[in-house]
Amino acid sequence: MDTKVVKIDKEQIDDEKLMEAAEILRAGGLVAFPTETVYGLGANALNEEAAKKIYAAKGRPSDNPLIAHISKPEELAPLVKEVPEAGKKLMEAYWPGPLTMIFPKSDIVPYGTTGGLDTVAIRMPSDPIANRMIALAGIPIAAPSANTSGRPSPTTAEHVYQDMNGKIEMILDGGAVGIGVESTIVDVSGPVPMLLRPGAITIEMLRETVGQVEIDPAIQGPMAANVKPKAPGMKYRHYAPKAELVLVEEKNPETKEVISDRVIEEINLLAKSRLDQGQKVGIICTEETRDCYPQGMVRSLGFRSRPETIAHNLFAVLREFDDLGVDYIYSESFPKDHLGRPS
Ligand code: TXA
Ligand code: MG
Repeated sequence: MDTKVVKIDKEQIDDEKLMEAAEILRAGGLVAFPTETVYGLGANALNEEAAKKIYAAKGRPSDNPLIAHISKPEELAPLVKEVPEAGKKLMEAYWPGPLTMIFPKSDIVPYGTTGGLDTVAIRMPSDPIANRMIALAGIPIAAPSANTSGRPSPTTAEHVYQDMNGKIEMILDGGAVGIGVESTIVDVSGPVPMLLRPGAITIEMLRETVGQVEIDPAIQGPMAANVKPKAPGMKYRHYAPKAELVLVEEKNPETKEVISDRVIEEINLLAKSRLDQGQKVGIICTEETRDCYPQGMVRSLGFRSRPETIAHNLFAVLREFDDLGVDYIYSESFPKDHLGRPS
């Protein structure tokens, strides 16, 4: 199969080009497209045969459910049994945007899309190309990240081409994506919303909108071997981060209470060089210094003046960086007494 690559200008969307993509999708074919998080590999979410093609192109196990993408709030109702109150509030606050929600599925959503589950994951992307393409197609679009299973999620059309050339009908090239990590997933089908996958919409933002939000035990804390993640795509995780972790140490170990400008500068330089290479960078700091880091995914471990919280938060942050697919972590250093030893 010849894979057609079509450039689309986000600022000036050409409906004619998107109509061609929409036609392919309606006919049961595959189109890769940009979203604000990562590139997606799209197919008609209501057509089981089309969903099967996604699994084949990615080399992905078919029990891993897909996210159905919609273009406006009205498109949600036909796909779900009900929209719980928390779901309504989160929709209002964060749609369109990088938030996926899990709802009880309606009968028109095939099990081939949900991996056999009675729930369905739905997201309304804000990327203008994604949004317009879905609207023109007039059907919900099932889309995992457009990479070969086991490879990093694509953030440019070139990445998609490397993995998908010859396997899909079309790639829409809308340039590099903005966020670079997959959407936050929240299950709103139960009595209390539960975070299943961290992303750009943080747990704090979710709690601000709906109050109580639980975190899937499988994505936090040291995990027992028998704890199964609720989002089947979230794999077993260890303490050791997958990223390369660099601790930037103070020259003068006496300075424990404050971090010197030299350390901040070095972390910023290291981060910039990796970001320029297109890598994902996480930065670990504390409340006292979090505003000193303009780039990368910056996470504070709490207050340096309260070192007992540092170790506890460190592991949570390392796991979060794993979930976000971070390649390099640059961290301030901390007094050793409080690292790795629960006190
Ligand atoms: O940002 C994103 O969400 C990107 C773009 C393309 O929208 N898509 C994406 O899809 O990340 P994918 O297939 O790589 O990840 C979907 C995740 C998987 O971890 C899957 O297990 C989970 O969502 N998921 C899907 N349906 C679910 C359901 N009904 N219950 C629980 N987890 C579900
Ligand atoms: Mg993925």
